[in-house]
Amino acid sequence: MGKSNSLPPAGHYNANYGNFQTELYAQIRREAFGEDIGQNSWLTSDEQDRFLEWLDLSPGKTLLDVACGAGGPALRITATTGCSVVGIDVHEQAVTTASSLAAQRGLAERAEFRSTDATGPLPFPDASFDAITCIDAINHFPERPRVIAEWARLLKAGGRLLFTDPITVTGELTNAEIAVRSSAGFYLFVPHGYDERVIAHCGLGLLVCEDVTANMARVAEARRKARASRSTALREIEGNQTYDDEQEFLGVTARVAGEGRLSRFVYVSKKLR
Ligand SMILES: C[S@@+](CC[C@H](N)C(=O)[O-])C[C@H]1O[C@@H](n2cnc3c(N)ncnc32)[C@H](O)[C@@H]1O
Repeated sequence: MGKSNSLPPAGHYNANYGNFQTELYAQIRREAFGEDIGQNSWLTSDEQDRFLEWLDLSPGKTLLDVACGAGGPALRITATTGCSVVGIDVHEQAVTTASSLAAQRGLAERAEFRSTDATGPLPFPDASFDAITCIDAINHFPERPRVIAEWARLLKAGGRLLFTDPITVTGELTNAEIAVRSSAGFYLFVPHGYDERVIAHCGLGLLVCEDVTANMARVAEARRKARASRSTALREIEGNQTYDDEQEFLGVTARVAGEGRLSRFVYVSKKLR
């Protein structure tokens, strides 16, 4: 399956990552998420706390965060559990921000961020990690069976994989909704049930499958409103086209999620041997 979208990889994220550390974008995150942990997804801090209960991380353990963005979620996990983390993302500005946040938070010794395309083989030996996370990004990778098999290769026996899939088709969608919702580069839309089958096929045992669509609907709408109330400043920074496209993206995301037509699930699985 080829990448059909002609946008540069993760180019849609330029406005967010280019302005990530400005007070304006931090204010928007605080309003959208309640707590700004440096995320660029649908993840809130209370949701991450629940995820942590399933990951079994502690000092001495190692986590790989695939498509880590600006590193905020991975750094919060390191700070909370004491584990070490490697974060990878294809967006160089995001990785630079992640490294600088690690230094600012005094976590650079336990947190390393690398610019890596996660669609190919990953540059780590077999059984390198106790846990792997991938938050709201698996939809950007083609060939899901190959991607999850690669993650399974990197896990130690008994290690945990947690990913969210925010692009699970659970109802009817128009072509216009699909076009707007998939405007950030390559997107893979899958039916509910598909992720469970791939997980099983890759030698992982499913521990948790939970519908976490409500968070996505809430965050998308809160983010749209937080940006709308700062539209003059954002239009100057982003330009009218990028601003309008992002607002439309957030509006459609909130609507199709709120109506249960495009859903977000979290999957936790364990490497069996
Ligand atoms: C919705 S953001 C989520 C970021 C992060 N997980 C978080 O929770 O803040 C999706 C991320 O996927 C990254 N991404 C897209 N395609 C990628 C690829 N081929 N390899 C690695 N990262 C990629 C983007 O750069 C972006 O940071």
